[in-house]
Amino acid sequence: MEFEVLRAQVRAGESWAEAGDRLAPHDSHSPVLAVDLSSDPLRFRHDEGNRLSIRPMTPGDFPDVVRWVNEPHVARWWDEHRTPEQVEAYYGPALRGEDPTRMWVWEVNGRSVGFSQDYRISDHPDYALLSARPDAIGFDYAVGEPAFVGRGIGTSLLWVFLRDIVWPAYAGVREFFAAPDHRNAASLRVLAKLGFTEGLWFDEPAGAGRVDTVVGCSLDVAQVMGIQGSTRLVTGK
Ligand SMILES: CC(C)(COP(=O)(O)OP(=O)(O)OC[C@H]1O[C@@H](n2cnc3c(N)ncnc32)[C@H](O)[C@@H]1OP(=O)(O)O)[C@@H](O)C(=O)NCCC(=O)NCCS
Repeated sequence: MEFEVLRAQVRAGESWAEAGDRLAPHDSHSPVLAVDLSSDPLRFRHDEGNRLSIRPMTPGDFPDVVRWVNEPHVARWWDEHRTPEQVEAYYGPALRGEDPTRMWVWEVNGRSVGFSQDYRISDHPDYALLSARPDAIGFDYAVGEPAFVGRGIGTSLLWVFLRDIVWPAYAGVREFFAAPDHRNAASLRVLAKLGFTEGLWFDEPAGAGRVDTVVGCSLDVAQVMGIQGSTRLVTGK
C-alpha cells in the first residue's frame, strides 16, 4: 500500500525516513519502504506481500554470486570476477575479516536474489582520490536473479540495506556514495528514487586499458535517514 508525504509535512530536524514512519497508515506492521523520494510529495509504501531481508554473505553463497555476476543484466556493468576462483579471490578476504568491506545477501521471502557490499571509501585510497569522496560510505549492489529485476524490488531492498544495515554501522557519517556507469539508467534511477543527487562524472579504470565514465551520486544522510543516535537503531553487524 502506497502513501505520500508532502515535504512541507516533514518537521524541522526530522528526516524523510522518520516522517515516513510517523505518517504511515497505522494499520500496517510491515516496514515503511521508500518508493520515490526524488520529488514532492515523497512516496512510501508498505509491502505486506514480501518479506525483504538482508543477511551477511558466507562462502556458501559464492555459487549464487558467480551465477549472478554472469547474468547479462549484471555482467554488462560488472567487469571482472566472473569465475568461481575469481569470486573466491575477490570476496573471500572480506568474508574472512581480512578486508573491512562488509558483504551481504539480499533475500525476498527467504530466497537469495542479490547481494551488496559497503565500505569506508577512505579504506580504498585510489577510489577516494578518483571519487573525491574520502569521507563517504561507499556501496555496490545487484539484484542478480533476472526474475526479480524491474519490479521495484531493487529500490526496496537498497532502501532496507541503506537504512537498516549501512546507516547504523557508521556513526556520524554524512554521505552515502555510489557511482554507476553513466549509461546504467536503471541504477541511476533507483538511486534518484531513494533521494540521491547526481554530482560529478569521473573516469574509473575498468581493466584492459579501458575506463568507465561514472556518475557520482550522493545521499545527504541527515536529511534522508536522520542524525544517528536520535532515532531507533535496527540490525547491522
Ligand atoms: C540496478 C538494479 C539493482 C535495479 O533493480 P530493480 O529491481 O530492477 O529496480 P526497480 O525495479 O526498483 O527500479 C528500476 C527503475 O529504473 C527504471 N529503468 C530500468 N531500466 C531503464 C532504462 N533502460 N532506462 C530508463 N529507466 C530504466 C525503471 O523504470 C525503474 O524506475 P521507475 O520505478 O521510475 O519506473 C538492477 O537492475 C541490477 O541489479 N542491475 C545490475 C547490477 C547493477 O547495475 N548494479 C548497480 C551498479 S552501480
